[in-house]
This record gives sequence, C-alpha cells and structure tokens, in this order.
Amino acid sequence: MIELHGVTKKYANQTAVDNLSLTIYEGEITVIIGPSGCGKTTTLRMINRLINPTSGSIKVEGRDIKDTNVESLRRGIGYVIQNVGLFPHMTVARNIATVPRLMGWSKEDRLKRVLELLDLVGLNPEDYKDKFPAQLSGGEAQRIGVARALAANPPILLMDEPFGAVDPLNREVLQGEFLKIQKKLKKTVVFVTHDLDEAIRMADRILVMKEGQVVQYDSPEEILSHPADNFVRDFVGTNRALKRLSRFSVEESYRKVSPVTEEAILDKKMIKSLEKSEFLWVVDYKQMIKGWVQAEYSEMNKRISEVMTIVPYNELGVHIDDSLKEALSKMLAQGVRTLPVIEKSGHLLGEIGLDDIQRRSGKE
Ligand SMILES: Nc1ncnc2c1ncn2[C@@H]1O[C@H](COP(=O)(O)OP(=O)(O)O)[C@@H](O)[C@H]1O
Ligand SMILES: [Mg+2]
Repeated sequence: MIELHGVTKKYANQTAVDNLSLTIYEGEITVIIGPSGCGKTTTLRMINRLINPTSGSIKVEGRDIKDTNVESLRRGIGYVIQNVGLFPHMTVARNIATVPRLMGWSKEDRLKRVLELLDLVGLNPEDYKDKFPAQLSGGEAQRIGVARALAANPPILLMDEPFGAVDPLNREVLQGEFLKIQKKLKKTVVFVTHDLDEAIRMADRILVMKEGQVVQYDSPEEILSHPADNFVRDFVGTNRALKRLSRFSVEESYRKVSPVTEEAILDKKMIKSLEKSEFLWVVDYKQMIKGWVQAEYSEMNKRISEVMTIVPYNELGVHIDDSLKEALSKMLAQGVRTLPVIEKSGHLLGEIGLDDIQRRSGKE
C-alpha cells in the first residue's frame, strides 16, 4: 500500500501537486490520468524520491519514505518510462540484469532471471538476450524496459506513459501483454497516462487529476457511468459503452469450435455432420488455421483451393488477450461478423462473433 498525506510540490512560481491525499492499494493497477502539466509525473516521482515533496508525507507499506534509505526504497520499486532509457552499449541481458547486478546476484542467477523475464514479456530469450537496444523496435524496447523494472521482483511498479511512444496498434498489444503479466504477478502498479482508452483498459482504479488536485478517484465503471463533474464528463467523452469493451478480453467471450482439416473437407460426410454452422474453419494437420468454407457447399468434387477462402490470420485473427474493443474494430475494418481466435503461432483456438460482443457490452 502507498499512502500520500497532504502532499504538495511547489516550484518557484507554480504548484505542481496541490495537497494530494490518496491511498494506492496493493496488487492493483492505479492509473493516474489528466491533461499535460496536471502533476502526474511529479506525483509518480515523489513516490520513489526522485523528487522530494515541499510538504506532506508519503508512506510505502506503512513506512514514511523519508525514513527509508533511498537505494533500498528504489530496489523495491520498478520504474518504467517512455523511451525506456536502455543503456545503448549494453546487451539486452545486461540491461535487464542492472539491478540484480547491483544487488550482487551470481552470474548464473542473473542469467536465469534474464531468460525467465524475456519469456515473460513475450520475447524469445535466445533471440534477444545478446541484442543491443539499437536493434530493437519501439515495442520490443518497451518490453525490455518492463523486464528490467521487474528484474529484482519489486512489489511496486511505477510506469510513466510507458507505451506512449509506441504506435497505437502495438500499444494495444503491449497493454494486453502487460495485463496478462499483472494477472500472474499482482504488483502494486501506479500507471500514468493521458490516454483515456488506455486508462479504462488497464485500471482497477482511476485517479483523474487537474491542476495538481484529485478530481475523481474511482473504478473505471464509476468514472464512465458517474463522472464527478463536467471536467471528467468532457474527458470521458462519448461512446462510453464502446469504451467499456476495452475492459473485457476475447478470452472471456470466445467459443471453442470444431474445425475440419483440409483432407476432411473433401469428404461429404464430414461436412454433413457439421451442417449446423454456416461455415467451417479449416486447419492443416498441425491445427494451423488455413481458411474457411461454406458449410452447405455441396460440390465436393472440387479441389480444396477452389472451395476454401484463405484466411490471412495476421489480419483477421484475434488473440485471447486482445480486448473486445480490438476484436470489434477488426470486424468493422474487415467487414466480417466472425473472427478466428488464434494463438500467436497461428493455431486455431475458436471463434468470436459480433453477437458475443454485443452480449458482453449489454451486461452492466
Ligand atoms: N523541474 C521543474 N521546474 C519547474 N516546474 C516544473 C518542474 N517539473 C514540473 N514542473 C511543472 O509542474 C507541473 C506538473 O508537471 P508534471 O508533473 O510533469 O505534469 P504531467 O506529468 O501531468 O504532464 C507543470 O506545470 C510543469 O511545468
Ligand atoms: Mg508527465
């Protein structure tokens, strides 16, 4: 738990944070959101003592941070920023192991941890450990930033617009991946953003700030359904039902399917037995998705290539950790009512339809 009591930070002619009192709960993602200059970064950096408050106090796990040694305080707090600030002349492995090295971990323990973390953030350890930061894409560099922050297993993570410099598509992927990691690790996360969609998707609780003060501190549902004032209402804007969809993952709403194999598709009996559905997914012998066929299709003397519509799964497929909002925008963009749900490798897991999404969005 992190507690702020009447915290104020003043600069010469400006109050960046104004008498802020706030409790941040253990194991939750608390998102701080608000317009540029409202004091988000200042608030975050006071928690790990990169900035000292002008007045007020901050407690981490019951202890006033003024009474804690700065180094040991920071060891318990991972910090992720935009453009990550990886050390350019160090390999990915050395970057990730920065804190464990300072803490005197053995070489074997460090390497083990690096491999574990690369795996956790979705990068193949053997392919990435010896790369240099310049060889990484923006999204990959952010993943390394997260891995580095998690290296010594701190209970708290401070994240300042961590995905802000990544393009929108990759940002949604990173959000989904981080939520998956958080489900496992249950860190106390303070996450700063100015992107409302990101806040709605990531947060257990949202703190809306304005001019250094709290405007509303509530669950995403409450912020969307009962904005505290016109400032929050304007901030939240329209399409609130659509925004809620970003809080649900494909995993909770998709259906398992029985696909047919390319060989079986030429067997009339197989098709007959599956006549209930309008169409069938086709997989190869490794369960990799290939395409779909109209189930009623009866001219089975034709070759598979003539009856099957090939599915470019990178364009059409959704993953179980994608949000329903992403699935919906894919449907709208591609003009289809049903999408295959696939693993990263292309293995077919099931399908998700417009109906499944409508059902979910209607639920309060
Ligand atoms: N070192 C500083 N000196 C003077 N003013 C600062 C300093 N750091 C931040 N500020 C001011 O404090 C306010 C809050 O800044 P910040 O916390 O960075 O906002 P946010 O992260 O919400 O965009 C801004 O008006 C900013 O100009
Ligand atoms: Mg900032």
